[in-house]
Amino acid sequence: MGGSIGLTAKLIATGVREAVSDAGLDTKAMDRQLEVLSDFQPQTPHAPDLNGGIDVWRVQLDTLEPAAKSLERLLSPDEMKRADRFRFAQDRRRFVVARAVLRRLLGAYLGASPASLRFAYGPQGKPRLADAHYAQGHVTFNLSHSRELALLAVAKGCEIGVDLEAVRPLEEASAMARRIFSAAELAALAAMPEVERDMAFYRFWTRREAWVKALGTGLAEPPDRLDVTTADAGGTGEPDWRFVRIEPGEGYVGALAVPAGISLDVRGRLWLE
Ligand SMILES: CC(C)(COP(=O)(O)OP(=O)(O)OC[C@H]1O[C@@H](n2cnc3c(N)ncnc32)[C@H](O)[C@@H]1OP(=O)(O)O)[C@@H](O)C(=O)NCCC(=O)NCCS
Repeated sequence: MGGSIGLTAKLIATGVREAVSDAGLDTKAMDRQLEVLSDFQPQTPHAPDLNGGIDVWRVQLDTLEPAAKSLERLLSPDEMKRADRFRFAQDRRRFVVARAVLRRLLGAYLGASPASLRFAYGPQGKPRLADAHYAQGHVTFNLSHSRELALLAVAKGCEIGVDLEAVRPLEEASAMARRIFSAAELAALAAMPEVERDMAFYRFWTRREAWVKALGTGLAEPPDRLDVTTADAGGTGEPDWRFVRIEPGEGYVGALAVPAGISLDVRGRLWLE
């Protein structure tokens, strides 16, 4: 495991463990699962090697916006069709930049030209590398963007999910929480001091989204199949998942979902260009 994750993880785990312990939840399970990624090392994406770990790339979409027009040439006709459906120019540019960076990154991992990559899509739209590219290195990925920031997670041979949210005040938090969270998650949220609740809401939310994105199932998952307070998968026969909390920068919260049994050697990388 990367050194950057270790100490921060322990410090944060202590605070969260106390809150969860107060709520009567399983603190041993929390000890096993909680990790934090907050350090993103600048790197140019030349032939990166996964070495059995997971890379999480942080990309500042707006810094690449001036290049958006030229990046369009990396996208496929169906991606350009999607780009053209955005109502606002800024959203369109961010989509183009995120897809172009995704292609350049995956191209670097595979030693392939970015424009040549083909994607296939799951029933709920989860993108993956088309079979011929996947066969080259079993590279899997997931992408999330919020405002000007994107996270791109890349792994080998396992389904992963990543989610990123810009934090904003949640006036409707309690109503929304009742619809989305499991009973254990609601209990943990209720046990927290009010000032901490918005942030906790986002932490739980991003873990759930990351899980749903790892599964590729979208809205179909019932809340009680997962309990992200202990990061165990609800005792309903689902395989266990592990979660890395991502702190990508001021005003953002993120999470990565990884199947249990996969090494949590997670490296934060900062896209330099
Ligand atoms: C697909 C979904 C997961 C995307 O979530 P989002 O927060 O709106 O957007 P994100 O930026 O995190 O992710 C979008 C990216 O995920 C990928 N994606 C699309 N469908 C996906 C799916 N079914 N599974 C995993 N990844 C998917 C794509 O790369 C997409 O970006 P792109 O189209 O620009 O390439 C969302 O539409 C969805 O169904 N959410 C479920 C909501 C829910 O149940 N919430 C409850 C838990 S809090």
